[in-house]
Amino acid sequence: MLRVAVCVSGGGTNLQAIIDALRDGKIANTQIVRVISNNRNAYALERAKAAGIEGVCVSPRDYENRDLFNDALLACLKEADPDLIVLAGFMVAVPACVIAEFRDKIINIHPALIPSFCGKGYYGLHVHEKVLARGAKVTGATVHFVDEDLDHGPILLQKAVEVREGDTPEVLQRRVMEEAEWILLPSAISLIAQGRVTIDDNRITHIKES
Ligand code: GAR
Repeated sequence: MLRVAVCVSGGGTNLQAIIDALRDGKIANTQIVRVISNNRNAYALERAKAAGIEGVCVSPRDYENRDLFNDALLACLKEADPDLIVLAGFMVAVPACVIAEFRDKIINIHPALIPSFCGKGYYGLHVHEKVLARGAKVTGATVHFVDEDLDHGPILLQKAVEVREGDTPEVLQRRVMEEAEWILLPSAISLIAQGRVTIDDNRITHIKES
């Protein structure tokens, strides 16, 4: 049984996609053991509660400095004892201590085709604003492993999504979620749960045929 901790910050539609995929049997041998939010008011925590999953808030506001918050986040994750940590719209830079403790056991969903439209300042709706401002005709989403550099770790899955004339950031965000994110993230967890994902010495991922 793959034990998964999911980190969230906001609406939690990606968390919901994972919960639904588990319910529908699209992800086997997997259990969400804890949902962690940095934001007490995140609707994602409501989604966790509705699904009977433990939700915990670890907010930087509750700690005197960043180091103490980082330690608390690490402790909260270690307590959940996950095999995999899924960043599902987690708007916090993952501290180095967490990355070191859970090396190659953290995946993130990014709402663009990495290495385009990623890095500092590229999160949430801003990504789609910048895609439209650049006039890109194709965007998409990426699931990647997390390393010390932002949006940089080994790419696991990607899916392209068309940019259409007249798109607003909100409309484009919704299309990227529907056509890519909500499909890719459950698929990535399923592949990992089946033991089909490896990372080679060049930090390239490989997916074994089933
Ligand atoms: C998603 O679009 C996710 O890809 C993005 O935030 C949104 C969260 O939505 N993540 C990032 O930008 C991370 N850099 P959700 O809370 O409804 O899943």
